[in-house]
Amino acid sequence: MATGSTAILLALAILAASALSGSRAVTSPYVRPRPRTTLPELKSVLEDAQGQTPQQVHVSVVGSDRMRVTWITEDDDAPPTVEYGTTSGQYPLSATGTTTSYSYLALYRSGNIHDAVIGPLKPCTMYYYRCSSDPSREFSFRTPPSTLPFEFVIVGDLGQTGWTKTTLQHIAATDYDMLLLPGDLSYADFFQPRWDSYGRLVEPLASARPWMVTQGNHEIEKIPLIEPCSFKAYNARWRMPYDAGASPSGSNLYYSFDVAGGAVHVIMLGSYADYEPGTAQYEWLQGDLARIDHGKTSFVLALVHAPWYNSNRAHQGEGDGMRDAMEALLYGARVDAVFAGHVHAYERFTRVYEGREDPCGPVYVTIGDGGNREGLADKYIDPQPETSVFREASFGHGRLQVANATHALWTWHRNDDDEPVVADHVWISSLASNPACNK
Ligand SMILES: *[C@@H]1O[C@H](CO)[C@@H](O)[C@H](O)[C@H]1NC(C)=O
Ligand SMILES: [Fe+2]
Repeated sequence: MATGSTAILLALAILAASALSGSRAVTSPYVRPRPRTTLPELKSVLEDAQGQTPQQVHVSVVGSDRMRVTWITEDDDAPPTVEYGTTSGQYPLSATGTTTSYSYLALYRSGNIHDAVIGPLKPCTMYYYRCSSDPSREFSFRTPPSTLPFEFVIVGDLGQTGWTKTTLQHIAATDYDMLLLPGDLSYADFFQPRWDSYGRLVEPLASARPWMVTQGNHEIEKIPLIEPCSFKAYNARWRMPYDAGASPSGSNLYYSFDVAGGAVHVIMLGSYADYEPGTAQYEWLQGDLARIDHGKTSFVLALVHAPWYNSNRAHQGEGDGMRDAMEALLYGARVDAVFAGHVHAYERFTRVYEGREDPCGPVYVTIGDGGNREGLADKYIDPQPETSVFREASFGHGRLQVANATHALWTWHRNDDDEPVVADHVWISSLASNPACNK
């Protein structure tokens, strides 16, 4: 039965491929198993018996040589202090930050959310740390390198299902320097304990490498009149370095930072913050892009939640308003690639500007395939647009290895049952090194 339908689909795919002969557009014939269920909820933060025990630890970069450590305790007396050093069990350095908490829908009160910025730190170095002076849990992270090469993992719409677990296992199995997440983290969807279980699920990875995130629609969690503040949990739990660096944005919903000593500039955009000309985000982006020194910065990357180019039927057109408002800014600043989530599938476009292939436009990638509970988006617009190079509705994750000032290798790793399989790859050469794009 399964084999029969697979054969039919393969035959259809071959037919489709021959109908498109001369086109390089590929719709993958791979057939996914059904989505896996949401992981059983882990105990809520309030049930944590040991009040000072840090949990949901994650780290994010602040400027070129500092790291923000964020964690949660139940106990009000737990200090927002991180002790750290380069030898396991020895913590000669420390920093104290701040504590916050929030309540939601009267019924839920978060634990104490602490954050402290530590540094200056040496690049490419293992640091061992503990939080709130709790001796029971030692964590460690490796700081990113200050020169190329540099490797990103990029994955959106992560959620917390069996597929998420598989994706995380695949990410953990090979090395990387930093994870970028283009929105839709926990799929808490108003039920706040799911933020806590998500924090615990990602902690083994997010406490060991910087996780840099931007928001998706599932982070909004606004309920008119009852919870009028958008992004309450997201902003409290996933504070990003919006107030650090060369162009502070003033909003946790969009920001930028440099890695590899400035060789790569990463822009995190906010699909759910205002983006029209004249808005704070637009003005900030304009200023941020104007500061880029292409002699020093080889690659410029942007992340956004709702894709600006998308040939999946899901969320068709949702990113168009933002694209119309901001595409020219990114094009003018020679942004090399734009990574989006939201659509639960993988799709890679060629370099595009204003809907057409353009050698000086960004490569567009949809990587909303982390593994969330809503399942896959498997209905596509046919025929596949000429600008869409590869598309497939599977879970998985992407990696961008910036090898040097001119070359970066993008690979997409499908969760092929329980094996990670490289199902798509492309070498991206930097626009900064292309004379035709720098007249
Ligand atoms: C950059 O990396 C690419 C891919 O590995 C390689 O072909 C190229 O020679 C490298 N360029 C320099 C200047 O090392
Ligand atoms: Fe989304």
